[in-house]
Amino acid sequence: MTIRLRQASGHDLDALHRLEQSAFTGDRFNRRQLWHLLNRAHAETWVLEREPEADAPGRLLGYGTLLFRHGSARARLYSFCVHPEARGTGLGRQLLESLEGSARTRGAARLGLEVRADNRVALGLYRRMGFRLERWLEEYYEDGCAAWQMVKALEAGPAVAAAS
Ligand SMILES: CC(C)(COP(=O)(O)OP(=O)(O)OC[C@H]1O[C@@H](n2cnc3c(N)ncnc32)[C@H](O)[C@@H]1OP(=O)(O)O)[C@@H](O)C(=O)NCCC(=O)NCCS
Repeated sequence: MTIRLRQASGHDLDALHRLEQSAFTGDRFNRRQLWHLLNRAHAETWVLEREPEADAPGRLLGYGTLLFRHGSARARLYSFCVHPEARGTGLGRQLLESLEGSARTRGAARLGLEVRADNRVALGLYRRMGFRLERWLEEYYEDGCAAWQMVKALEAGPAVAAAS
């Protein structure tokens, strides 16, 4: 099975919408919101895609969206998920590392995010990846659940070797 990471385009809207429905139980983006994210100049969405094979069609296994603000050194991880059937195999960590790299490439010095206070798996992953708790946000989600705002300083990545 080959899984590749690539930037999403408008062609991914239907698949992204299906993934959103499967991966989140509440506070989901609808098609219009996803379309907006895919076409927004200051947003960048990356997808993990299982490439099609003879016996199985291609499929999106995860995605993450970064938001950038003009003049701000802080990028925001706006959405991030892995399909339930593909969880626990390291894809989430891999996708998050790539998103951090992408934010760094766009000049961000920090990456911020919000996470449900009861989302143990995501909180654990973010903490192990070096995010620290920044602020408690009461009743942040539509069901009244609180959120932790978290932030990570992005260190300069390795220099990219010039192609000879
Ligand atoms: C959070 C999420 C993206 C993690 O994706 P994943 O592909 O399962 O992540 P990984 O396999 O890379 O595992 C990441 C870490 O979580 C741990 N983990 C994964 N599933 C776990 C589970 N069910 N229970 C406990 N720990 C778990 C792994 O051991 C791993 O630990 P490590 O950092 O020490 O290596 C995924 O669970 C998800 O999509 N959840 C629903 C959407 C969501 O909550 N998004 C975040 C919104 S802020």
